[in-house]
Amino acid sequence: MRVLHTFAEVREASVGITSLVPTMGYLHEGHLSLMATARGESDTVVVSLFVNPLQFNDQEDLARYPRDLDRDGRLAREAGVDLLFAPPLEVMYPMPALTRVTVSSLVTEMEGAYRPGHFEGVATVVAKLLAGLQPQRAYLGRKDAQQLAVIRRMAFDLSFPVDIVGGQTVRESDGLALSSRNVFLDRNERDRALGISRGLMAAADAFETGARDAHTLEGKVREMVTGAEVDYVTLADAHTAVPLSGVDRDAFLAVAARVGSTRLIDNVPFLAEPGGAISVDRGFRLSGPSILYGDRHAIDY
Ligand code: PAJ
Repeated sequence: MRVLHTFAEVREASVGITSLVPTMGYLHEGHLSLMATARGESDTVVVSLFVNPLQFNDQEDLARYPRDLDRDGRLAREAGVDLLFAPPLEVMYPMPALTRVTVSSLVTEMEGAYRPGHFEGVATVVAKLLAGLQPQRAYLGRKDAQQLAVIRRMAFDLSFPVDIVGGQTVRESDGLALSSRNVFLDRNERDRALGISRGLMAAADAFETGARDAHTLEGKVREMVTGAEVDYVTLADAHTAVPLSGVDRDAFLAVAARVGSTRLIDNVPFLAEPGGAISVDRGFRLSGPSILYGDRHAIDY
């Protein structure tokens, strides 16, 4: 695996990049599962690692975002990645980005409402990565369901010749969705954070016993998230991010909550199958502790 720092170096190093996995680093098994899927389907896998200031609406959150290039390099190499693209700030933004990508109506609700400017930063940096690296496929996690919808729509609207592939949410063994920000949680906060995934699993149980309406499903989540400050619990259309009154198509039930100074998001997607049946995707659970906490357990994908 080579670590490269400019778009030109990456293009020179590879004739045709088949797959891109964009990340902000501090890799965990959620990122690694996207890399494993990409590895299985591609000749060249590029992982980008860039903590994008444009998408941080809170400067403190940007300042404390965890970073460790050596650790990330080791993990990406072990995952069979060909090229790690780690551009410095002056490569990504040599001049202030006057051109911004806004995916209008998809960003009015949920994360868009609570993090003004966030999705403009995400869409702009991902558009730069797609234009600069020209991958055939980009792998993104369903953990960030609204982000996935925004990126899909941006790539479609701007005619990027790329397939956006969604990956299942990877969870710790007790259900907490993996996030680089989990390293900020102390033991007590982590216990309180567990209400988020427990609430989503309770809603998934209710869905599987017949509940379809948003009020019931959202209520199941709110009942369980007692140790965290809820920003929102919303059932939304998976493609337009518009709130729904019931599950009758591709959708996701999303929650954002603050535990101490850490803000966490999670969701369960509902997937409409061709015959009309709809299933809920609870994600994938690790069997042991995450590599986020320093313990090097072998995870099979
Ligand atoms: P980051 O938070 O590092 O996430 C990189 C990718 O990993 C995203 O597609 C995200 O959805 C996915 N991911 C995160 N946690 C996951 C989990 N528990 N299971 C499965 N996939 C997971 O998302 C970003 O970075 C940035 O916004 C980015 C798209 C790179 C643009 O800067």
